[in-house]
Amino acid sequence: MALLSSRRAPSAAVPAADVPAAPGRAPPRHVAIIMDGNGRWAAARGVPRLAGHRAGVAAVRRTVEAAIAAGVGWLTLYAFSSENWRRPQEEIADLKGLLRHYLAHELAELASAGVRLHVIGERERFGAELAAALAAAEADTVANTRLDLVMALSYGGRAELVAAARAIARQAGAGGLDPAALDEAGFARHLFTAGMPDPDLLIRTSGERRLSNFLLWQAAYAELVFLDVLWPDFGAEHLAAALAEYAGRERRFGARLG
Ligand code: FPP
Repeated sequence: MALLSSRRAPSAAVPAADVPAAPGRAPPRHVAIIMDGNGRWAAARGVPRLAGHRAGVAAVRRTVEAAIAAGVGWLTLYAFSSENWRRPQEEIADLKGLLRHYLAHELAELASAGVRLHVIGERERFGAELAAALAAAEADTVANTRLDLVMALSYGGRAELVAAARAIARQAGAGGLDPAALDEAGFARHLFTAGMPDPDLLIRTSGERRLSNFLLWQAAYAELVFLDVLWPDFGAEHLAAALAEYAGRERRFGARLG
């Protein structure tokens, strides 16, 4: 199967003055990934889905290393969606176990590599113990600056937008906010991603071509790259291919260039 399944846009022209700077050959500041295909990877080998998820964790490890090596500043990984709670209890327990293991055994290495961990999503749904471990991991890595690694856990874009709207309505109802003064930046401050840059490049593996409720607000101008590789097989070469595709894209942010 072809590595890349997206079409290359014409090469970049001179950007207009009011358009954010074109990245040229620089790597994207923020890469977001929908890690898909663990189950199919396992099925193709006749092994339990858990083996696919375990191989998925190994791919996370490779990808973090590759992102650091490529000079990417922010990496967001869709590790568990709001919809994943509909999976069988056994698979949910397996994924929680992998997350617990990841925090217990890989955080120290991440921290020594200069990784700062952030979590977006409804972490409390994982239970008090895991939510506390996630908060501790964020606190322990807060001073690191090499890579900001954002784990989307029990994350759903629509739920995030509804929660933001609810918080804003509450604030306005209490007289703390003039609705007419609300702008995009003000709205974004109520999202899980407040203070984080928007993704420049969004990658989805496994050949599926959907956003699946991921970063609906934040990905408004992200370049989308769909790869025909299953997540457990993802590695530095696939990240490099996506970055090369990104480097050839023309980013206009709705404006006309030239
Ligand atoms: C999609 O594959 C992947 C997930 C639902 C979970 C992603 C989780 C990991 C990569 C491992 C956990 C990560 C950490 C850091 C603990 P799928 O199961 O939907 O695959 P399928 O579409 O082929 O069935």
